[in-house]
Amino acid sequence: MNLAETAQAAFTEAYGTGPAGLWAAPGRVNLIGEHTDYNDGFVLPFALPQRTVAAAGPAPDGRWSVCSTLAPEPVVFGVTEPGDVTGWGAYVAGIVWALQDAGFEVPPARIAIASDVPLGSGLSSSAALESAVLTALIDLGGLDVPTERRPAIAQRAENVYVGAPTGILDQSASIRCRAGHALFLDCRSYAVEQIPFDLAGEGLAILVINSNAPHQHVDGEYGERRKSCEAAAAALGVPALRDVSTAELPQALDRLDDDVLRRRARHIITENQRVLDTVSLLRSGRVREIGPLLTASHASMRDDFEITVDQVDVAVQAALDAGAYGARMTGGGFGGCVLALVDTGRADATAAAVAAAYEQRGFTAPTSWVATAGPGAARV
Ligand code: GLA
Repeated sequence: MNLAETAQAAFTEAYGTGPAGLWAAPGRVNLIGEHTDYNDGFVLPFALPQRTVAAAGPAPDGRWSVCSTLAPEPVVFGVTEPGDVTGWGAYVAGIVWALQDAGFEVPPARIAIASDVPLGSGLSSSAALESAVLTALIDLGGLDVPTERRPAIAQRAENVYVGAPTGILDQSASIRCRAGHALFLDCRSYAVEQIPFDLAGEGLAILVINSNAPHQHVDGEYGERRKSCEAAAAALGVPALRDVSTAELPQALDRLDDDVLRRRARHIITENQRVLDTVSLLRSGRVREIGPLLTASHASMRDDFEITVDQVDVAVQAALDAGAYGARMTGGGFGGCVLALVDTGRADATAAAVAAAYEQRGFTAPTSWVATAGPGAARV
C-alpha cells in the first residue's frame, strides 16, 4: 500500500466510510537561511518527496475528529481555544482554530493521517501535518484562502495554539514549494521566487544525513535564540536584524556590548547575505559554487549561533573530507539533519564515510538518502 492508500484505509477503519478526498503536504529541507525567518530575513527551502497525507471527509456530528496510523483512536473536539486540545491533536485543532480566528467558516470534518516524514528530525513533520490538514479543510469547505496567506495561518496555529515560537519557514515550504525548484522567500513581505533546482542535470545531488541524535533542549534554546535576536535588533534601533547589511556589520557589532548578542547578530546578518549569494549563483547555473556558502553557514551556526551538536558537526566534516562541495546542518538545530552537496556518483561513498565516522565515535548510526525537490501541498 502506498501512503495515500494507507491514509484512505485508516479513514475507513476509523469512521466506517470512505473519505471525500486525500490531501498531501511535504516535509522540507532548508538549503540555506537558518533562523533568519523570524528576523524578517531570507530562506531557501525545497520540499521533500516525503509527505503527510490527510484523508478527510465531512463530519455528520458537527465536530472535528482526527486519527493517524500512529494513533488510531480519534481525537475529537468542537470549537476550542488554545490549550483545550494538547498532544499531537493540537496541531490539527490549532489549524481549525486559526482558520476560524481569521474569519473562515471551517467545515466540521473527519480526518485520518498517514506520513513518511521522519518525526522529530528537523524536517518539518509538524508543518507537513498542519499544511495537509489546512489544505484539506480549505478545499472541503470551499474556503477562499489565497495560497500566499496560508502559511501565516498555519504558523499562527503553531505559535498560538501549540505554543512554539517558530517562524514562517516550514509552513511556507510545505505550502508554497514547487517540484524541481527551491523557494526563495522573503519572510518580511512573503514574496517568493521559484528558483530552478535541477541538480541531477548538473550531475549533482543533495545527500540528506539524519544524525539520529536525540533532540535536546530544542524548545527552550529556540526561544532563547529568538529573544537574543530581538534584543540585538532593539539595541541597534532597527525593526529586525534583516535591516542590517553585511556592509554595516562592523559598526553594528561595535554598538553591541554583549558578546553573545554580537555573535547571534553576526550569524543572522551574514546568513541573510549567504542566502542572497546562493540565489545569485543558482540563478546563473553555478550550482557547485554554492558549496562554500553552505559550509560557511554551518560554521556560523556552530560558532556564532551555537545550535549544532557533535553528531551534526562530525557529519559535516566527514562529508567534506569525502569530497562534498559543501555541507551544513539544516533546520532548527540541536540534532536533526545535515545536507551535503555532492557529485551524484559520490553520494553512496559520502554516506558511507559519515557512517564510518559515527561508528568510530560510538554515535547511533545515521540514516542517509538523496533528496530531490518535490511538490508543495495539494489534493492528490
Ligand atoms: C525551525 C522553525 C523555523 C525556522 C528554523 C530555523 O524549523 O520552525 O521557523 O526558524 O527552525 O531556520
